[in-house]
Amino acid sequence: MSEVVRLERHGDIAAIVVDNPPVNALGQAVRQGLKERLNEAANDDAVRAIVILGAERTFIAGADIREFGKPPQPPSLPEVIEDMDACPKPVIAALHGTALGGGFEVALGCHYRVALDGAKVGLPEVKLGILPGAGGTQRTPRLIGAAKALDMILSGDFVAAEKALSLGLIDEVSKAETPLEAGLAFARKAIDEAYPLRRVRDLEDEILADRGKSDVFDDARGKLKKTARGLFSPHKIVDAVQAAVELPFDDGIKRERELFQECVESPQRAGLIHAFFSERQVGKVPGLKGAARRPLISAGVVGGGTMGAGIAVSMLLSGLQVIMIERDEESLARGKATVDKILEASVKRGKLTAGSKAAVMTESFSGSTDYAALSDVDIVVEAVFEDMEVKKGVFAQLDAVLKAGAILATNTSYLDVDALAAGTSRPSDVIGLHFFSPAHVMKLLEIVVGDQTAPEVVATGFALAKRLGKVGVRAGVCDGFIGNRILATYRKQIDYMVEDGASPYEVDDAIRAFGFPMGPFQVSDLAGVDIGWMTRRRLDATRDPRERYVEVADRLYEAGRMGQKSGAGWYLYSEGNRRGAKDPVVENIVVQERAKKDIEPKSFTPEQIQRRYLAAMINEAAKVLEEGIALRPLDIDVTLLYGYGFPRWRGGPMKYADMVGLDQILADIRSYAEEDAFAWQPAKLLVDLVERGENFESLNK
Ligand code: COA
Repeated sequence: MSEVVRLERHGDIAAIVVDNPPVNALGQAVRQGLKERLNEAANDDAVRAIVILGAERTFIAGADIREFGKPPQPPSLPEVIEDMDACPKPVIAALHGTALGGGFEVALGCHYRVALDGAKVGLPEVKLGILPGAGGTQRTPRLIGAAKALDMILSGDFVAAEKALSLGLIDEVSKAETPLEAGLAFARKAIDEAYPLRRVRDLEDEILADRGKSDVFDDARGKLKKTARGLFSPHKIVDAVQAAVELPFDDGIKRERELFQECVESPQRAGLIHAFFSERQVGKVPGLKGAARRPLISAGVVGGGTMGAGIAVSMLLSGLQVIMIERDEESLARGKATVDKILEASVKRGKLTAGSKAAVMTESFSGSTDYAALSDVDIVVEAVFEDMEVKKGVFAQLDAVLKAGAILATNTSYLDVDALAAGTSRPSDVIGLHFFSPAHVMKLLEIVVGDQTAPEVVATGFALAKRLGKVGVRAGVCDGFIGNRILATYRKQIDYMVEDGASPYEVDDAIRAFGFPMGPFQVSDLAGVDIGWMTRRRLDATRDPRERYVEVADRLYEAGRMGQKSGAGWYLYSEGNRRGAKDPVVENIVVQERAKKDIEPKSFTPEQIQRRYLAAMINEAAKVLEEGIALRPLDIDVTLLYGYGFPRWRGGPMKYADMVGLDQILADIRSYAEEDAFAWQPAKLLVDLVERGENFESLNK
């Protein structure tokens, strides 16, 4: 059995090396190993100083996240760290890569910290719904004061070595090549110059100023009202840091542990950790293992509208060469100007320097009205008008000029990718790449795989997503793919509830209270009421006569209320009010529409609104799974988290359904079906899972 923690002798210095790939996480075996090796070194008279370091790519990157929520296995991390702290010989952490969470807490429990240039430290627990529970909330303020500690722990941001040094989190940045070399050099000095044992627990200077005062903490709690809406652990973090300032160290540690435990038991921890693993799992598509990726150096974008320009920017910022194609010089100039404008905004926000922007525009970006300009590119994404004939025309032209092996991608949000592929001589090179607007910002990329798409084309799609800093999700072909198809279903329930008695504003409030950043009517106003109208007109021809149709939104459209862009939609907008005000005119329209259908309005509580919304989402998602449009429940979770504002701390709709209980969801669906059997046909998969007593998680591979 390979040892996850080994002890090496370097003269009178002992090096304790954690070797637990890929990120040296602090699982039980590592904690046990650290405790034993430390004990061994501490009791060895020939050892005068101890260095703790990580093998391979990084120092310890944290507790083993997979262990959270399971019964704890001794020794606990605080216990191991306590041993380091109490060790009578200098213990030095030699950091490289990322020293995160429990890993950084190990470092804080050492007497000194030296980091390689380029290393990063951080306490990102907040992102997982927990808090640093092995002394991090107690020792960090003792090094840098409460205010800075709160900034670091509440943001979860990584801190680069130089900055960590200037803050006082670490003691030295080393130019050494390896952490071993850096650690040994520091230990040598510690021995030769008889450094005292600097125990962070004993430091008080940085926290004295805030003792007995609540300003820093009141301030932090005030900010959380805006920045941590609905979140649990940030509030506990403030409590823990306050305990560090107010209580003796041992009592503070005890308090930290209690607060940590509360976080571990909260459903938010389960949701956020599910999100963490899902976004890593989503790129591991069964059947793609071993599929070679095609090279990606240059790309074409057909269409310079909002979407095409956003895609071009995203590609340019990833270092790709991009050629934009438009039908005439005027449209091309407009497309290029849009790209320029988006990049300029990045310069203003400090994300890009003016020099890099100029270089991108002149060296990486070009345009043409002639498809022949694309003859040498590796991939083309078309982002022209959503019309099958128009897109087929584009694909025919691409087919005629692209080199062999080039990928033909469509950014359609609902058209049949197989039909587009069939119109070319190379259907295996055709794929859907569904970007979300604004394409240079939104992280989701649905990778739509047609019947004939070659595995290496799919693998290249995922590689492109990664390169663009996006999360790629594999989707099958259907109207709306994963995300928009599910959206279309739960969105309808909102209109039904409004017609039945809820006000649009009550609906938005309830959905925001669930944790979505915006309510569905606010989203509609942002996207444009005309967009929804066009979608409904497109579906008129195929709409099942049994489907209930609500006309309220059509009345808004007819009244010219297009949303934010026209100053009025579901809300009323004015110069000073970009968030929009409730509008009695809209409430009147709703009343009239109800009257036309003789609907006696009933009231809905926020919980009732949320339950219907979620039940519709989960039921359609189960159908999407059953049909193989989405591979696994986690693919749906990632889609809704990254493209539709589903609150991350709830893990996604499938995780949420598991937590509520699938039997409960199914019971809701069946009770709603008594009013509208057509809209509420339970997914077979959901019924099967309930019958088998299983959950969606059991389908995540
Ligand atoms: N516990 C268990 N597994 C972990 C882990 C942890 N703390 N951190 C990372 N992993 C796993 C990932 O799930 C992934 O596994 P996989 O290859 O089976 O998918 C693998 O390690 C590599 O991680 P990945 O994120 O893909 O690599 P990266 O190089 O992009 O990033 C980190 C490395 C450490 C920066 C990143 O994984 C991270 O932020 N981890 C979480 C750190 C954290 O929150 N620590 C605090 C916990 S107390």
